[in-house]
Amino acid sequence: MSGKKKILITGGAGFIGSHVVRLFVEKYPEYQIFNLDALTYAGNLENLNDIKDQSNYNFIKGDITDEPFIKKLFATHKFDGVIHLAAESHVDRSIKDPLIFVKTNVIGTMVLLNAFKSSCNANFDGKLFYHISTDEVYGTLGEKGLFTETTPYNPNSPYSASKASSDHFVRAYGETYNLPYVISNCSNNYGQHQFPEKLIPLFINNIIENKSLPVYGDGNYTRDWLYVKDHASAIDMVFHKGKLGETYNIGGFNEWKNIDLVKLLCQQMDIKLGRPKGLSESLITYVKDRPGHDLRYAIDASKIQKELGWEPSVTFEEGLEITIDWYLNNQIWLNNVTSGAYKSYYEKQYT
Ligand code: NAD
Ligand code: TYD
Repeated sequence: MSGKKKILITGGAGFIGSHVVRLFVEKYPEYQIFNLDALTYAGNLENLNDIKDQSNYNFIKGDITDEPFIKKLFATHKFDGVIHLAAESHVDRSIKDPLIFVKTNVIGTMVLLNAFKSSCNANFDGKLFYHISTDEVYGTLGEKGLFTETTPYNPNSPYSASKASSDHFVRAYGETYNLPYVISNCSNNYGQHQFPEKLIPLFINNIIENKSLPVYGDGNYTRDWLYVKDHASAIDMVFHKGKLGETYNIGGFNEWKNIDLVKLLCQQMDIKLGRPKGLSESLITYVKDRPGHDLRYAIDASKIQKELGWEPSVTFEEGLEITIDWYLNNQIWLNNVTSGAYKSYYEKQYT
């Protein structure tokens, strides 16, 4: 895609979405970028303060499940491209309240697909619906092996089941209505602006506050971690160069057992905070395991690497240091998002 384009990015006030919005607004001044976000607990316009006055940036507050509103929005703007990130994204919340995941992730995606299809009026030339998904749709790996684009879907949490369902609908709209789409399935992201309910920012916040670090089960669960700006650069490449109807796996070539990652984080935090070595590690507390906890995720990202030439730009140690520095330098952001409703979420989840 090139030239003057109207691009709708959903969920652009969230963690990954805000990095994607920033990258597109700054890199493509010739595009008009529309950020559609309902501003749930996870959406925060402060994430975009630095680009909010750019002339090619537009914010629209709205809910992707609000069908009349979404239909009208697409009929008015006739977007050339959609990059769909809006979702309920936290596994623990999906275990407590699965229905909202079906509503946002499945029905919301359907509403967008229908509105996009109608607004194209059977002329899909130069159009693209890009659906952002997760490696969690593949379920769990044992000690060996990697998820490839042909690994069968086998989701184990309400979150991953809802994302798997939305992926299937996107693909089905491609087969049934020739709707032009691409899908990417990415591993765990970390970086600036991640809401402190996910492992890395939660533990950074708890270390700052000298609170215990609740490691689920024995901590021997493995995740493949990718720095969020590297995910955003992969999204840029897939959007512009990805083949229609294809899926791309995106990962960091970077597997860590939770407990090893937490220990590395503790060591880096002790140094940054000038605390005695081992102080943060003493906060580690093993707590009741997450039900249906997937043992291991690991991505084979060779397709996007070979076909599109994408590579992560930072090592995990570098990315983690940038992330820690950002949270330490942005404690007002952290305080704002951890006041109010966060406190009652934390109580319910961890006590
Ligand atoms: P996030 O929870 O930080 O942000 C989600 C955003 O969507 C928020 O701004 C929220 O306000 C918005 N939103 C929620 N419901 C909405 C609705 N009904 N209408 C409009 N907006 C709504 O999520 P994230 O971590 O940035 O993830 C973004 C996408 O990437 C999701 O689709 C997620 O499944 C996928 N993904 C995330 C990861 C990860 O590690 N975080 C990894 C792979 C894929
Ligand atoms: P999380 O950041 O929630 O991402 P996901 O579940 O999508 O992989 O969790 C990452 C890993 O860390 C996962 O194995 C669960 C574990 N975890 C804990 O041990 N304690 C916690 O408090 C949280 C939030 C996660």
